[in-house]
Amino acid sequence: MTHVPTSNVDDIDLSDMAFWALPLAERQQAFAALRAERPLAYFEEPDLSLESHLAPPKGRGYRAVTRHADIVEVSRHPEIYSSSKGAITIIDLPEEMIEFFAGLISTDNPRHARLRRIVSAAFSPRRIDDIVTHIEDVAGRLIDRVAGWGECDFVTELAAPLSLEIICDMMGLPPSEHDTVFRCSNVIASSGDHEYLEPGDDPLEAMLSAGYELVDLLTRLSAFRREHPADDVTTALITTNIDGEALTPAELASFFILLLTAGNETTRNSISHGLVALTEHPDQRALWQADPAGVALTGVDEVVRWASPVNWMRRTVTTDTVLSGVELRAGDKVLLFYGSANRDESVFDDPNTFDVRRSPNPHLGFGAPGPHFCLGAHLARREIEVMLRELLVRLPDIEASGEPVQNVSRIVNGIKHLPCTFTPVAPRRP
Ligand code: HEM
Repeated sequence: MTHVPTSNVDDIDLSDMAFWALPLAERQQAFAALRAERPLAYFEEPDLSLESHLAPPKGRGYRAVTRHADIVEVSRHPEIYSSSKGAITIIDLPEEMIEFFAGLISTDNPRHARLRRIVSAAFSPRRIDDIVTHIEDVAGRLIDRVAGWGECDFVTELAAPLSLEIICDMMGLPPSEHDTVFRCSNVIASSGDHEYLEPGDDPLEAMLSAGYELVDLLTRLSAFRREHPADDVTTALITTNIDGEALTPAELASFFILLLTAGNETTRNSISHGLVALTEHPDQRALWQADPAGVALTGVDEVVRWASPVNWMRRTVTTDTVLSGVELRAGDKVLLFYGSANRDESVFDDPNTFDVRRSPNPHLGFGAPGPHFCLGAHLARREIEVMLRELLVRLPDIEASGEPVQNVSRIVNGIKHLPCTFTPVAPRRP
């Protein structure tokens, strides 16, 4: 593995893929140095045109926002820090990709509010409470499948299929299409990890093809749902009519892709990081196991803080302004490093301690308060809670038994594979 010295802020390069291949602890050390010495450090952009003919020429660079208070400030002021100027990725999206990838998350008001209203009810705490039994059924079935094995790849057998199945069910996609969604969302969210590409693939072209495949799914599903409406999110998207206006085909496509990808990667990564943390901190695991329902109230958010599955989101400055004493010009890009905010020592006592009873826990794993705060936060919390509870009850000695294989990505703090072991037990429903 490439070694990147991280103690000296001049040696840190957040645009270098080698940085994101470092173990989490080393990356955290680098962020601690940035928070202390250069909390709004400037970085050159990676030159993605070297990797893809679709990428625009290298842009003007970005500021890395690493302190909790600054990320809160930026997220609260979408009129100054826009999500739609170009995109929420480092590069402005190439024309070809806008149709598929410039959804809800890369819009500002009034368009953002209009789009968010269409699906917000489906993700409200009440609606999510209604599907908890279903989440428990899916988790129980997945555990039953591996219960007798004594070991498995935790990510591919347990964490990934749970979030995949739940979001596909909410969208109304039949099981026969789940593999397609899994494959395409891996390509889209991993932003070029080689495991998900064929040798020689252009990463942006691969993302585009994955987008086409998902839109093909959407086209088939929406044709069926127009004839047979159901209580699912796809029906809500295709039948919506706000102030006499339906969603345009591009809005529909990007919404569908966003919901499938955002709901998939992040939750699976939280659950996988959760197992690693519980393995490395047996005292915390014992607390959780002794009182699964009580500890989950604080433990789930501590897992999300610890994992910080989304590394960053971008905003673009709309007007000259000053942030923490640094002058920013209209057009500047700022990246909000959530994992750094989540270890900010001015907000969290002992930020590098995994404490399942941490309260209060104002982490920014789901984003900071503001219009783009994670739509799926309630759903994600419930999935993490149910899966960890079921695991600790059904396979009480389950633990990570080897090094996690990291997803080498700038944007997702992901785990692709994680060996785990447990004492084999009989399935509840053979
Ligand atoms: C632990 C799991 C999850 C984490 C850590 C996470 C994290 C995030 C973050 C950091 C943002 C951006 C916030 C901002 O820009 O201010 C976001 C937005 C979003 N998330 Fe999640 N997310 C998770 C699960 C989910 C799930 C299960 C869904 C289900 C569909 C989902 C759907 C979305 C959507 C649609 C947005 C865009 C919201 C908007 O722009 O209005 N997320 N999430």
